Amino acid sequence: MNLKDIRKEFSFFKNNPNVHYLDSAATALKYDKAIEKMTDYYLKSGVNIHRGSYKLAYLATKEYEEAREVVARFINAEPSEIIFTKGATQALNLVANSANLLVGTNEEVITTEQEHNSSILPWLDKSQELGFKVVYIPLNEEYKITVENFKKILNDKTKVVVINHVSNVLGYLNPIKEITKLAHKQGAVVILDAAQSITNVKIDVKDLDVDFLAFSGHKIYGPNGIGVLYGKKDLLRKLHVYEVGGEMVSKASKDAIIYQDVPHKFEAGTPPIAEAIGLAEAIKFMESLDYQKTTDHIKKLKAKAVAGLSKIKGVTIYNPTSDFGIVSFNIDGVHPHDASSVFDEFNVCIRSGHHCASILTEVLGTPGGTVRASISIYNDDKDIEALIEAAKKAASFFGGF
Ligand SMILES: Cc1ncc(COP(=O)(O)O)c(C=O)c1O
Repeated sequence: MNLKDIRKEFSFFKNNPNVHYLDSAATALKYDKAIEKMTDYYLKSGVNIHRGSYKLAYLATKEYEEAREVVARFINAEPSEIIFTKGATQALNLVANSANLLVGTNEEVITTEQEHNSSILPWLDKSQELGFKVVYIPLNEEYKITVENFKKILNDKTKVVVINHVSNVLGYLNPIKEITKLAHKQGAVVILDAAQSITNVKIDVKDLDVDFLAFSGHKIYGPNGIGVLYGKKDLLRKLHVYEVGGEMVSKASKDAIIYQDVPHKFEAGTPPIAEAIGLAEAIKFMESLDYQKTTDHIKKLKAKAVAGLSKIKGVTIYNPTSDFGIVSFNIDGVHPHDASSVFDEFNVCIRSGHHCASILTEVLGTPGGTVRASISIYNDDKDIEALIEAAKKAASFFGGF
């Protein structure tokens, strides 16, 4: 599918012909057919799943469970290892909810200074309650995670490694396979936050060998309100249930509860049925794309953005060598929020601030955060040219350059 055809798949461009959307790391635009599939379910049926014994209920259940199969195939997992959640955040919290089973007092969780709050805060929160230590892989001079620096802090107290695959601020692809191998040698489990990598990298959980992995539907052109937790089956079975309620028990009485097996044990209540169906459609769209071609396209636009921005006096780019479409920068003397108002005047949608990565903001020494442009498959040269023009205007208007 070429770029022109890709843009046709997103009504956003018909409805916003003059907008340059460069905020796909916050959320990707929604693939029309994913939304149509959801609407179809609501208009033609809309019934609950796993409960009724009538035909429509059977068909809706089938569609929901087929969506699970699509997700499983997409990342090379088994359907029973796929839990639908409301997003990556809930998936990551679900694992941390069992922190006491994975790490004890005086033991250690390794994480990184690049993390999104969703991956790190659940563990910081539990560390206060359970008395384990959270230690950080120091970033190198380019703010990258290296295997060498990981080795320096890995030790026999390490029980959990929680790490992002691609940082939402820096866009670097982290060396997960090597880190996982080393972590497993120490007997630690690895939890991978794949919220940003899922759009750019063909993920194979068996190859990466991570124990848990989380992502959200809305970052892969699908709906909001749905995400995925993958876990190795034996580990998932050991985790505490996250919520209790309807459909996740096989038997409940006054004295005992017998939970269903995974994945249903973790899907209490009426699940996001339409969203699961929409997510499956978005994944089929992703599977129809040539990863190499889309990645090359994104990298070309990113290089153009980096080249253009770096020529502007007063601009500092924090990740000029990022692996995908994320460019984080500042203009001397210009608060990122002020800069973003200029970008908006040029109809350029970018994000400013901390990007929910509070610790990284401290490491970068940028108290106001950064301006982040994030490029996706549907962006083109004009989007990047508008970004550069707006940055020039912000630098001259606020920065006096
Ligand atoms: C790296 C990373 N992890 C986790 C999340 C959380 O995803 P969600 O807000 O969809 O739960 C995000 C969202 O921005 C992210 O970029």
